[in-house]
Amino acid sequence: MNAEKYFYINGQKFNYTLEFQNTHINNYWKHNAPLIEYCETIGVVIPHYCYHKDLSISGNCRMCLVELKNSPKPMVSCAMSAKSCLNNSEIFTESPLVKKARENVLEFLLLNHPLDCPICDQGGECDLQDQSLYFGNSKKRFYSFKRIVTDKNIGPIVKTVMTRCIHCTRCVRFSAEIAGTEDLGMFGRGLDSEIGTYVNKTFQSELSGNVIDLCPVGALTAKPYPFLSRSWELKSTETIDFSDGFGTNIQAHIKNNKIIKITPSYEPDSNSNNWISDKTRFSFDGMFSPSRSVLGSINYKTDTLISKISWKELINEITITLYFQDHLQKHFLTNKKLIVVFDNNINLEVLNLIYLFSCKYSSFITLRKLEGKLNNMDINSNFLTHNKKDLKKSLINSNLCLLVGLYSRYENVTFNLNLRQRYLKGNLKVLTLGPNKDLTFPSLNAGLNIKNLKSIIEGNNYFCQDLITLNNPLIGVSSSVFNRTDSEGISQLLLKLKTVLRKYHANWDNLNILNLSINETGVNYLNNFKSISENDLKKNAGLYFLNSLPNKSNLKKLLNIKLLNFNNSKINWPNYIINQNSTSNTLKPNTFFFNCINLPNNSFFESTGSFYNTEGVLKKNIKFISSKTYTKDDWQILRKLFVNSNKINLLNNSNNFYLINFNLNNFINFKNYIQFLNLATNNLNLKSNTFTNTTKTNIITVNTKFKTNCNKIFETKLKIWINDFYIGGLDHYSKSSITMVNCSKILRAEINNFSHI
Ligand code: SF4
Ligand code: SF4
Ligand code: FES
Repeated sequence: MNAEKYFYINGQKFNYTLEFQNTHINNYWKHNAPLIEYCETIGVVIPHYCYHKDLSISGNCRMCLVELKNSPKPMVSCAMSAKSCLNNSEIFTESPLVKKARENVLEFLLLNHPLDCPICDQGGECDLQDQSLYFGNSKKRFYSFKRIVTDKNIGPIVKTVMTRCIHCTRCVRFSAEIAGTEDLGMFGRGLDSEIGTYVNKTFQSELSGNVIDLCPVGALTAKPYPFLSRSWELKSTETIDFSDGFGTNIQAHIKNNKIIKITPSYEPDSNSNNWISDKTRFSFDGMFSPSRSVLGSINYKTDTLISKISWKELINEITITLYFQDHLQKHFLTNKKLIVVFDNNINLEVLNLIYLFSCKYSSFITLRKLEGKLNNMDINSNFLTHNKKDLKKSLINSNLCLLVGLYSRYENVTFNLNLRQRYLKGNLKVLTLGPNKDLTFPSLNAGLNIKNLKSIIEGNNYFCQDLITLNNPLIGVSSSVFNRTDSEGISQLLLKLKTVLRKYHANWDNLNILNLSINETGVNYLNNFKSISENDLKKNAGLYFLNSLPNKSNLKKLLNIKLLNFNNSKINWPNYIINQNSTSNTLKPNTFFFNCINLPNNSFFESTGSFYNTEGVLKKNIKFISSKTYTKDDWQILRKLFVNSNKINLLNNSNNFYLINFNLNNFINFKNYIQFLNLATNNLNLKSNTFTNTTKTNIITVNTKFKTNCNKIFETKLKIWINDFYIGGLDHYSKSSITMVNCSKILRAEINNFSHI
């Protein structure tokens, strides 16, 4: 019979199995936790510097010493497994011996530490400062010189003051184990030990900013925002990231209505903080760029600029433009439309509202996505990102991962991190279809050309055996693949792959479309919106950019083609452009546009909205920065347009169904959409509840069915759409962010060997 395993901590009896294993029952990464973590679980906090839950154990700071009964010396609790203490032993964490040991350790750590606290960015949230206060000696015994270490330049993200470094090596282990770049290391021995990159180079990782949080002292701090605040002056709030398809939970720290810093949120599941990318952490300054237009303006083609005009005048201008356009059409019997262009970063509420608007004036307004050709597919049953809600968990049971056109390191940082961690656990083979890029861990390339996917399905590929024999293969497809002209053919191939794999793996359902923008899933679920095409431009009366950047590739390409063929084509250049953007883009009229109306709206953190992330989880962002006095939320602007447009009589508008049933003045319906905020726990399978409207004026369903006949695919290379992580994403703000632009310049300079760029 097994004897009961227990031990005493500070005289109190604990049972390992009951107290600890049960707490960590869902934590699949944990097998043999150290004593320090066990103590934390039961509420006994042991001070430490080098230990971190998600990093390997180095045991070099000696701050976590505890007393073990009958042991001649104190023991390091981070390097001792909790299970190994189960011989009915007694542990003391607050005994005089332990306190004396801590005092001595601190004396050594402070031996060469500068007296910098008043000018140190870490002050107020510094472990060394706190612990010196509690355990340190008030007297100094060493009065000789202090060591000076030169600061290193490791890039535009992290500022170094290396004299403050206590050599805990957290940053070195993070770089090697999590970021996978091994740029940082410790060189020199004894008194000459230094942390750095050895040769002069930057820390080239899209995750480099995490070392700022990891460093227990002020050796590594945020370079873009030095000396801005103290931790006690900041208020923090939970929000979400806008830069990729995951909408990672983050914390924003605010002072005087300004965001000072962004840090990861605490995740109760993993009992630790997430790692976040540099873009998530630092690109928010793009939102408050000085060049951002916060005043409404009308730019006439005659070079007349009317700025600082009231909202009433702005909305009236739009209404009058619509009115005249409508009457012109009626008299000349043309069928031109106002094209409302939005992108996949739009929130669900605004999309609903503009959808209603387009239904009301269906003969006059067309809704178009800026990019993406996800047409003619039954997204609902075949392309649900995954039903499991959690990519990390589906990776656990998988021994093979096939990435199709997906450069996960840049496109989905969170997914790549999980993939790397899973790879390091062993027994995972990663195949990539597309350009062979560095994912920070080894992978096998299954070819560049999309025809290799076809050969896999036909059973003629070298890797077919792997797909059959290895457990629960996970297929990750970048949604950028569907921007190709043969997107329908590719989607049909993927469905065939699904059918093939189901023959070999019972109930296989691990085909994941990884989206690039925060609400791409939501937009695709709401309706099968078409993307803007040349045909639309031929019939347009005007363009309305609703939080979408007109300089993005798809439209830019279309406009350029038109520019070339201008003389021969029967193109209608937009008579007017309405630009509702919170970025620095203010449109000006050019040869082809009559006038541009710029409507200043609130940025992401200044407005409230809901989004479905790529995992099908509803994410919400609650406004926490009060907006500039003049700017308005997207929904407020649309509401004004609604109300004003009710006053005019559009000749072309034959559809008065919505006019009768949809009473916009009391906004009851709109309030329903705001209820998205209360549905944060619902996933996409419960979507039907979400879109229910009491007056049933807008029943939005996905009813396009997948065609069984196989469309043609072009046997061309799969391209990676993002080459520059910092400014290359589909979010609105990173391109206007000074920090991101600097990062991009420095990265390019290092890659190109031209340091002056
Ligand atoms: Fe003070 Fe901590 Fe900064 Fe050192 S690292 S100067 S102890 S705040
Ligand atoms: Fe530790 Fe910071 Fe020094 Fe890195 S720089 S070893 S994290 S104290
Ligand atoms: Fe245990 Fe550093 S935390 S030795």
